[in-house]
Amino acid sequence: MKVLMINGSPHERGCTYTALAEIAKTLDKHGIESEILYLGTKPVAGCIACGNCRKTGKCIFDDKVNYVIENLDQYQAIVVGSPVYYASASGQVVSFLDRLFHSSAKRMAGKLGAAIVSCRRGGATASFDELNKYFSISNMIIVTSQYWNMIHGNTPEEASKDIEGLQTMRTLGENIAWLLNCLDAARKAGVPAPVYEKQIATNYIR
Ligand SMILES: Cc1cc2nc3c(=O)[nH]c(=O)nc-3n(C[C@H](O)[C@H](O)[C@H](O)COP(=O)(O)O)c2cc1C
Repeated sequence: MKVLMINGSPHERGCTYTALAEIAKTLDKHGIESEILYLGTKPVAGCIACGNCRKTGKCIFDDKVNYVIENLDQYQAIVVGSPVYYASASGQVVSFLDRLFHSSAKRMAGKLGAAIVSCRRGGATASFDELNKYFSISNMIIVTSQYWNMIHGNTPEEASKDIEGLQTMRTLGENIAWLLNCLDAARKAGVPAPVYEKQIATNYIR
């Protein structure tokens, strides 16, 4: 069992990382492997709606999106972390997720998904809701915690002082570990995965 954690902050070891690392520690306690994927500081291309991914299964921009696409079967859970920028998730993470989910939404079904956000003061719940929308349109199982998954601080030192935020991350880690073990037990017991109908897309045309 492996959990992918996407750090959508340009700060490799900033507040978002501090929160993700707290989840990783809890997962590790339960013997669950995790990987923190840093998106870097270079611009992340947005989706150009070229449709290439529908033909090849890969994004036309050969960056870390394709790395995740190639390794997707390894991950049973995806945690997306982002700093709050103007009451929204970071531009990098939104561009990344648009391309990842546009190319791979069907392969996300049955995986666990969790969003975490970091902010100085405001806009956390709006950003949290924004990130959860990728999971809730992809037949994923959204994992929650004791509070909305947020941490407060402008620096990692400040974020480390948000003891409720850190506890929220540990509780999220506990819930992810428990649900992964439940899904594994269900699979071993022969509980079948849901069989979906062919999707109807009406585009609101009657
Ligand atoms: C462009 C920009 C916009 C920001 N907008 C907000 C905001 O709307 N609300 C807020 O509380 N903090 C805002 N911040 C502060 C960051 O969200 C905060 O410092 C965050 O914890 C940084 O996380 P990181 O260290 O992982 O990058 C903004 C920071 C930047 C650079």
